[in-house]
Amino acid sequence: MAHIISPSLLSADFNNLGKDVEMINNSEADWFHIDVMDGVFVPNISFGFPVISHINKVATKPLDVHLMIVDPDRYIEDFKKVGADYLTVHYEACTHLHRTVQSIHNSGMKAGVSLNPHTSVELLYDMLEDLDLVLLMSVNPGFGGQKFIENTYSKIARLREMAEEKGTDLIIEIDGGVDNTNAEKLIEMGADALVAGSFVFKSENPTSTISNLKSLKF
Ligand code: DX5
Ligand code: ZN
Repeated sequence: MAHIISPSLLSADFNNLGKDVEMINNSEADWFHIDVMDGVFVPNISFGFPVISHINKVATKPLDVHLMIVDPDRYIEDFKKVGADYLTVHYEACTHLHRTVQSIHNSGMKAGVSLNPHTSVELLYDMLEDLDLVLLMSVNPGFGGQKFIENTYSKIARLREMAEEKGTDLIIEIDGGVDNTNAEKLIEMGADALVAGSFVFKSENPTSTISNLKSLKF
């Protein structure tokens, strides 16, 4: 399967959001990565339902929504209503993760769990078969434009091995500091989906940056 490219709108131009959404629609990107931050789980606040709902009206590709919020159970139905296709919660923000994942599925969305850089992939072993996606943070969540953390490579390799041991299909997504210096190796280690924010939107030609990430082979 060709890898998935999910540009993060956190680095888009909020004065011209519609233009950046159109750019992604017309590019080789596969998904829209949407970062929701509450100022509690992470030291930053991004955007909420009205913005996502407007993006959903014009987006022609799936919405890959990454919740960096405490107690996400309170809002699962709301994210379904504004158009989320994949809903990813943080392991560190859920007391009853299995129940949260069940609720996401019951609402008709694909379920993902994200791990901070310090959180071991082994902690997901007992519920791996219940997940559609695991998002490995390769920076500490909260901001775009940070430096990639190298321990991500070995986490991908172990997670891929675990999925094989369990015989389960799993999308492994990498988020944070992804650029052309690490993308190829990430895919080689077993990543299926790459999020890229600043690398795409701060580049001179975002459409061709997406196309370059998409055409990488290992
Ligand atoms: C960070 C977010 C990321 C962010 C990535 O907490 O989860 O999705 O937008 O931005 P870059 O690609 O610039 O590291
Ligand atoms: Zn993200």
